[in-house]
Formats: sequence, structure tokens, C-alpha cells
Amino acid sequence: MTRSTPDRNDPAARGTATAEASGDAVAGEAAVGATAVEALTEADARAEHAALAREIRANDEAYYREDAPVISDAAYDALRRRLAEIEARFPELISPDSPTQTVGVAPSETFGEVRHAVPMLSLDNAFTEEDVADFVGRVRRFLRLGADEPLVVTAEPKIDGLSLSLRYENRRLVLAATRGDGTTGENVTANARTIADIPDTLPADAPDIVEVRGECYMAHADFAALNAREAEEGGRVFANPRNAAAGSLRQLDPAVTARRPLRFFAYAWGEMSGVPEATQYDMVARFGRWGLPVNPRMTRCDSAEALIAAYRAIEADRANLGYDIDGVVYKVDRLDLQQRLGFVSRSPRWAIAHKFPAEQATTVLERIEIQVGRTGALTPVAKLKPVTVGGVVVSNATLHNEDEIRRKDVREGDTVIVQRAGDVIPQVVSVVLDKRPEGAEPFVFPTVCPACGSHAVREVNPRTGREDVVRRCTGGLICPAQAVERLRHFVSRHALDIEGLGEKQIVAFFNDGLIASPADIFTLEARDARSLKKLKDREGWGATSARNLFAAIEARRRIALARLIFALGIRHVGETTARLLAQAFGTWEAFAAAVTEAADRTAPAWHELNAIDGIGEVVAEAVTDFFAEAHNRDALRLLIAEIEVERAEPRVAIESPVAGKTVVFTGSLEKMTRDEAKARAESLGAKVAGSVSAKTDLVVAGPGAGSKLKKAAELGIEVIDEDAWLALVEGR
Ligand code: IVH
Repeated sequence: MTRSTPDRNDPAARGTATAEASGDAVAGEAAVGATAVEALTEADARAEHAALAREIRANDEAYYREDAPVISDAAYDALRRRLAEIEARFPELISPDSPTQTVGVAPSETFGEVRHAVPMLSLDNAFTEEDVADFVGRVRRFLRLGADEPLVVTAEPKIDGLSLSLRYENRRLVLAATRGDGTTGENVTANARTIADIPDTLPADAPDIVEVRGECYMAHADFAALNAREAEEGGRVFANPRNAAAGSLRQLDPAVTARRPLRFFAYAWGEMSGVPEATQYDMVARFGRWGLPVNPRMTRCDSAEALIAAYRAIEADRANLGYDIDGVVYKVDRLDLQQRLGFVSRSPRWAIAHKFPAEQATTVLERIEIQVGRTGALTPVAKLKPVTVGGVVVSNATLHNEDEIRRKDVREGDTVIVQRAGDVIPQVVSVVLDKRPEGAEPFVFPTVCPACGSHAVREVNPRTGREDVVRRCTGGLICPAQAVERLRHFVSRHALDIEGLGEKQIVAFFNDGLIASPADIFTLEARDARSLKKLKDREGWGATSARNLFAAIEARRRIALARLIFALGIRHVGETTARLLAQAFGTWEAFAAAVTEAADRTAPAWHELNAIDGIGEVVAEAVTDFFAEAHNRDALRLLIAEIEVERAEPRVAIESPVAGKTVVFTGSLEKMTRDEAKARAESLGAKVAGSVSAKTDLVVAGPGAGSKLKKAAELGIEVIDEDAWLALVEGR
């Protein structure tokens, strides 16, 4: 069995194991006392404590030093749990050398947040050879490269894991963070330290600040062994290596991560106090020399054709790599060109991911089920005879909406082709008509909500006059399905993220009348204290899990404004929009007051809302409609009384001579394309406008400038040429 060997000198690798220990699965394997801890005499406890401590130390030795564990992870976890329980009852037994005290990093209740010094971006996707040629063409045009000027682009496997940022200060690993939303990730330092692939220190030639970025993943063989072990012990079996890697890295207890075989490939970087190479390829090679694992399949290519050839070669070898990849990433090699190309929203212009085609399989669609979402949308879901698609067992697939079912003529009992691509929900692609059973009837989409019986209608968009593709339940507040979905969203990972309050618990609490609206979550503990039917006595609960849940809820009584706005589940308000709104208003009070006032479309508040960068009319309408509903305002009043909303930091102001200025480019530019000039100006905080007006601060004019130049002169606006512009932005 291959496992990662944690750093032997790292005490964090030997943390207590409480968070993940999986119940009864361990009985029989190790000498865990049979007597309940509560029933132990002090003498018995002392003897058992000593025996347990000895056994744990012996296992640590076998595991960490010899890489040859003699008991299962679950059995090991049970030993530690028992030791901790005994110490909880007999604190006098806690000695400095007890295994519970030799922890470097205490297992955190939840992960702390880390704001990335440089955002962690994602990649744009290419699916066809044409997309790849377009990418190369786009880059060439942007950079104004002549036909005979070379453009080198690297090609490397796109690892299907999760991205991880490693920050080294003065050549020591000080911080490891997941990508999170790209701006803020989770602090997983203690866990990353247990990954053998990740060096604790960098050599002397590394700059003072180095942020290495790469992919954390699990190799096929390690994944299979882990799953076999888990299955044998009645533990959790992971659907694929990616989930296993994510689940292992995001462990609250580093000791558990230490026992999971995680690996790492370095392929990018964030903040650096110096960049010692001039190309992507050489930087990655340098990472390799610093002791970081880098992918050996990276090559340099000089044309779109060469990139496609590299893609084919990697694709042909896919099955032999020993780890999952889902495509090939292309990156412009020269770092000065990367700098000039910059970014569009969340992805760099200088890189693209060429994805492998989706994987497909054939199976029988047994039923079509209609699910009701939090905004009342009726979504048809295909219940399938379980089938493996690209290594994952699939038993549900989306059918999108009523029109799609009709267009594909999908019927219950049909044999269908299902497809899975990357992270997306599996889809039904088409029906195998020859296999349609006799008597299969066309599917009739319900016109009443299956959850509450209210009418379900397709609204007509007043602007386009067209019918919405989505049929929605009109039940609103009386629809239990919508209420449950709203609550589920409220507690989901990117919203309140309450540990231990997942889908299952929300549904159960809702059905039993314990939680009907968000505020109820925060009064749960107080009500429980007064209630005769305690949470700890419910099936599946106990004193510890109830206490943990209450603690997890308490931990969320203070919440960031952006998270709260996102958690409300307002239509069209995703995480990014929620963040924009939070940054624009700063406080909950300011936000709530403004969007309530903005219900009056003639009020200044309405115009201010629409004037926020990134907020359009659709969002503005959805937000004001939400606040215009009295029942929403009531629910919010109750919620706000229970929680404390943190003030949002305004968007970081960019320091540059053109920040906040409105710039117009006119005439032809010779040293850069219009796109590049615009992107550069925007990245420095300027607004680029297409025409000159009184609001214009600066006009950059090249040869051939005409009417705009004249207008600028009339309005007395400063006009400079391209060289002066470059001098200004480059500070020359
Ligand atoms: S480069 C600024 N290279 O793919 C560009 N990403 O879909 C940073 N990924 O978030 C990414 N293998 O987690 C890069 N060789 C590779 C990669 C890779 C996997 C992941 C990464 C990224 C995601 C984007």
C-alpha cells in the first residue's frame, strides 16, 4: 500500500484523531476497552490509559517511521478517541507526553479563511481544435505579432484534483490555502504539511516570498487502496480520486490527512518577491529544482498544430499516467507576454484548458422525477439504472426543463445515453429509439407543483414577450419544497456553511417544525434547552453531536455581509454579485435601507443601485422585489436580531496615476492593440470609454485621430500620445 509519508519532524502529522473517527467500524482490531468510560474506576482508567498510550506510540512508530501501518486507520482513530475520552473524565491522567499532548497544531473547529495575496484564477476552456486555433490567433492579435514572429506556448496535463497555494516566507512553508472562491480560500496549512510531496523549506536561491500554486490530487493506485480499506472498515467510499483528494485535504484533523495518500504538482505561482526566470517552462523547471514535484509531460510548442499534437499525445497516454486528468493546459511561455496579455474577469488571456470530450454511457431511465427548487423552479430529473460513466456511478441526470424533454422525446422506460463532463451534473444526451419499450408514453409535464399542489406556470418575460423555459410553482411561502430549498441554500457551503447542518438535517428539522425560517436556526439551542424532546435524544443524535451542532451554529452568529447576501438566495444573486453589493454598501443597514427604498423606481436609491459596477437591471429588480415582500422583510428582521453582520471592506483601491479616471483611446496605436491598451488601463483602475464627453479625464490619441480629438480640444480635456501614455502607466 502506498501512502504519503508525512514529515517525521512535524508534530502536526501526529494530531489527535477525533474529527473523522468512524464509529463502530473498528471493533475487534485493537484493544479498545470494553467498559464504558463512565463506568471505569480510577485505577482501571489509569491502567488502560497507560496501555493505550503505549499502543498509540507503537502504531505511530510503525506508520510514520516504517511506513508500515499494522492497524487500520479507523482502529487507530478509535484508540485515540478512547484515550481522549478517558482523559476528559480523568484529567489528572493527562501527562505532557500523552499522545493527546504531542500535537503541534490543535485540530481546528473549522478552517480559518485566507485572503489570497494574488487571486487564484480559473481557466477558460477550449473543446475543439478550432477553439485552440482561435486561442493562438487571439493571443497573436492581442500582442500584434507579425506572421513571422514566433510564439511559444507550453502544453501540460490538466490534473483533476483541487488547487492549492503554498506560501513560503524566507524559504519556510508558512501557509497553505485552498482556492475557495478565488479571493478567499481555506487555511489548510496543518494538512498540507503532512503531504510528503510538499517540501517544508525551499533552498537558498528561492526569493523571500514565494507562493507556489499547483494541484493536490490522489493517484489511481492510492485511491483504490484507500477505498478498499474504507469499504472493508465500513467507512466512507469516495466516488473518484478528486473527491477523495478534496475530502482528505479538507479534514479538520491533520492526523487524518496524514494518513491519506495525497500528492502535489506545482504549475503556477501567486505572489513572488522576485521571479527568477523569464518563461513559464523555466519557472516550472526551477520549482522542480527547489524540490517541488512538477509534471514531466510539459512541452513547448510553436503553433496551434503543435499544441494539438501535444494534446493527442497526452490523451493517448491518459490511461497510463496513474492519475486523473481532464484535459491539457496551454500557457504562453514568455512571462513578459503573459504580463501584457493580462486577464479577462477570472481567467488569464495567456492560458486555456483544452478539455477532453465528455464521457458517455448507456442505461435505462426508470422514472422522471420533478424537483422543486428554492425559487419554485420545477426541474425534471432522470432517475437512472445506476451506470458507471468515466469511473463514477451515476443514478441521476438532469433533463433541464420541459422543452428539452419534448425536444429529445424522453420517456420513462427509455434507454438513454448519459454524459458526464468534469464537474457538471450528468445529462441525458439522447434516447436510443430502437430500444424504446412498447407502450412508452410521452412524458406529461405537471402543471401543478408536486410539493404543494399550487399552479405551476411559465411566466412571460415582459421585455421579450417570450415564455420562460422554466415552469415555476406559484405557491411561494406555502410551498414546503421551496422553503426547504431556501433553508438548504442558506446553510450551504458558500453561504452560512454550518458544519453538521446539511441537507438531511434541514429536511428533518423542517418536517418536524423545528426550523421553518433562517432565524430559527439561531434560536434552536435556546428552544432545545426549554423543550422536553431534546435534540440529543433524537434518532441519529447524541449529546456530543448536539453540542457540536450548537457550537457550529454559534460560530456563525457573526457573518460576513457578502455571505449573508448570498445566503438569502435571491434570484440572480450569486457569490460574485453578493460580493459586489456588499462592497458597495459596506453594512447590512445601508444595503437593506437602499434596496428597500429602491422599490420606488423613481427614487435615487434605484439609480444608485443600477450604477454599481457589475450590477445590471435584472439583479437590481430581483433584489428590490425580494425586499418589497413584507414576509421577506419580517423573516430578515428576525434573523438580523439573532446575528451580527460584519462590515464589508470596500473594493481595494488601485494605486496608479490613472485610477478612477475615464480614458478614451482614439486614432491608431502602434505599440499595442486597442484591446491591450484597454485591458491595461482597466487593470490600473481606469474606466475606458468609447466617446469623449465632459466626463472624460484623458484622451490618448494616435495618428489619424479625428473628431474625438477635436471634441477633446473643445472641452479642454488633456490629450497625450501613445508614448506619453506608456510613460505614464509604466512610471517611466
Ligand atoms: S494553471 C492562472 N495548470 O484547473 C492559471 N491549472 O480549470 C492557473 N489545473 O483552477 C491555473 N491542472 O486547479 C493550471 N497544469 C495546470 C492545471 C491546472 C489542473 C486546475 C486548476 C485550475 C483549474 C482551472
